[in-house]
Amino acid sequence: MNIVLGVGGGIAAYKSALLLRLFTEAGHTVTVIPTDASTKFVGVATWEALSGHPVTNDVFDSVDQVNHVRIGHEADLIVVAPATADLLAKAAGGHANDLLTTTLLMARGPVLFAPAMHTEMWQHASTVANVATLRSRGVHVLDPAVGRLTGPDTGPGRLPEPEAIFAAAMALVAGDTLAEHDAASPAPLPTEPAAVALEAVVPEAVAPVAPTEPVAAEPATSLATTDLLAGVRVLITAGGTREPLDPVRYLGNKSSGKQGVALAEAALAAGAIVTLIHAPMEVPAPAGATIQRIETALELRSATLAAAATADVVIMAAAVADFRPANISTGKIKKRDNADDPVITLVRNPDILVEVVAHRAAQNQKQLIVGFAAETGDDEGDAQTYAQQKLVRKGCDLLVVNEVGPGESGGERVFGQDTNQVEILALDGASPVQSGGSKREVADDVVHLIAQRLAAG
Ligand code: C5P
Repeated sequence: MNIVLGVGGGIAAYKSALLLRLFTEAGHTVTVIPTDASTKFVGVATWEALSGHPVTNDVFDSVDQVNHVRIGHEADLIVVAPATADLLAKAAGGHANDLLTTTLLMARGPVLFAPAMHTEMWQHASTVANVATLRSRGVHVLDPAVGRLTGPDTGPGRLPEPEAIFAAAMALVAGDTLAEHDAASPAPLPTEPAAVALEAVVPEAVAPVAPTEPVAAEPATSLATTDLLAGVRVLITAGGTREPLDPVRYLGNKSSGKQGVALAEAALAAGAIVTLIHAPMEVPAPAGATIQRIETALELRSATLAAAATADVVIMAAAVADFRPANISTGKIKKRDNADDPVITLVRNPDILVEVVAHRAAQNQKQLIVGFAAETGDDEGDAQTYAQQKLVRKGCDLLVVNEVGPGESGGERVFGQDTNQVEILALDGASPVQSGGSKREVADDVVHLIAQRLAAG
């Protein structure tokens, strides 16, 4: 994908270097356009070195290439981070006096602004009106994070963390709508503290950090009944979604739901308040959890996004269909001798995990998000490499990875089995944790790790 990264003149410009790295590590081509003011914070040389491309903000550089038109035209996505009050005003007013503003006027794909400024500027009537104007035109403007600003002051105005901007950008490209506040009511401060003090994990070294040696999970058998997650609201998804083709057929997957149910049981045993949203499973849902049953990825999405709004921890163990049939036949698809065999056209489902991460950022929510990945290696990379890339792409805090496919005896290694072998990767570069045994033992290890992170704040 061709991404334009616009950088505004704020101290948070340095964080965009990490954002740039997330984009390039995910395989995207990035053209960086810094404003003149931003180069006082981060110089052109840094952007050229990190992006691997020449960088300018001068419309009169390489005039023969008509950069002020071409760059915006060719961009699949434009992300402006940090977006200053000045840049928001210029974009809302349609200014075109440098390469970034002309590029914004030429945009054909989605545009995402990640504002950063002092609280007073963010809440000023001019900025509120400019943000409202941009949003009314379909431009996506994230709410700034709440926290320490440049000086000793705190409040809404911090640039969201690079991982959150990355996740929001990916969700946008996936065609999803980000939850945004009406600009007339600037980002509210969180009113209700989470049951356990959760702090967004703020990786200093951005993944994919070459992780250090994996460590074995601490034995978790003592977790059988504990209060490690007492009062913590844990949302778990489980099972394999079914995407209907007609009234009797569907596209499904091999997920049994056993690992998700084991997680729900482990979280309940640790004192958590558990909501389990599950697609069809081979095992019964556990007693003691609030249960919601769904079938399709879109149903899972609505249920998950609604429930995630009040969850302290989200564990996405469901196997979600990446695609669904474009059309669902109202009658059973017939087999006819005198007609061609039917062709099924698929459309992409939204990535719910990416959306949950984006919503957390948009709402300034304190939440720990855990994804699952079933990976296989191929000629171009091993399962671990793909998992590390997936962790960055998804932007979740932890990714529980199992290598799927035939086991040593030739049978299936994970799906439907009672045992599992996983490696748990962390976005903040913490050492991967290995766990294996029954699915309940693996679940206890995951719960243990979550509790450790919550306790660490
Ligand atoms: O991309 P992949 O399917 O391997 O990612 C697995 C993780 O992403 C799981 O946590 C799964 O629940 C989640 N997922 C999702 N929405 C999708 C596909 C996967 O939330 N459309």
